[in-house]
Amino acid sequence: NQSSSQRLRIAIQKSGRLSKDSQKLLKSCGVKFNVNEQRLIAHADNMPIDLLRVRDDDIPGLVMDGVVDLGIIGENVLEEEQIERESLGKDAAYTKLRQLDFGACRLSLAVPNEFDYRDSGSLEGLRLATSYPNLLRRYMQSKGIVYKDCMLKGSVEVAPRAGLADGICDLVSTGATLEANGLYETEVIFKSMACIIQSSVPQSDAKQALIDKILSRVNGVIRARE
Ligand code: PRP
Ligand code: ZN
Ligand code: MG
Repeated sequence: NQSSSQRLRIAIQKSGRLSKDSQKLLKSCGVKFNVNEQRLIAHADNMPIDLLRVRDDDIPGLVMDGVVDLGIIGENVLEEEQIERESLGKDAAYTKLRQLDFGACRLSLAVPNEFDYRDSGSLEGLRLATSYPNLLRRYMQSKGIVYKDCMLKGSVEVAPRAGLADGICDLVSTGATLEANGLYETEVIFKSMACIIQSSVPQSDAKQALIDKILSRVNGVIRARE
């Protein structure tokens, strides 16, 4: 059928923290392609590989549904989607082929500079803005703290100043975003790197051989960069 391709499909982030490094890694593995910013798909010239350039948040679901064969994604987004799907009884299977050497970040709790924070108990009963409601809930349940949700897909860091929330749970890389918004990091709840994942759908021998080849090249590229 139309939607099951002979070509290997790899989902990568269209634009954002992981997109340049993801493209660079594939190019270092010998996959030749040119990205047209307007296009969703980039076809490799020298191998039967298509790159799908999508929002990072869509990548775990595309792999778990078997729409694409491989995905390059942050463990934060992956873990969030997995908890979400498991709670809904949806298919959440995938294979992590390996962790990569880029995309380091942490999901952290942060509060306004004037907030007198002692420990996570200081957040009891307060409202927290986040794009990661499942990872936040798991952490707060483990601490036995009840809080209120403020679900935002973007602009999480402005929520406290806008009076929408008392604190946030968001990704921190350099810390510049927190600082620019008068917030400070109080607790790391999840540490993340980019990783490469494979769909659990059985592959043809030819496609699996190509996946194995790509993976062994990824291993070589990363070893050479260490
Ligand atoms: C994260 C987060 C902050 C920023 C923090 O977004 O939401 O906006 O990075 O980085 P900093 O500590 O270096 O300032 P990001 O764009 O990585 O995630 P997204 O692409 O999923 O929005
Ligand atoms: Zn995103
Ligand atoms: Mg962002």
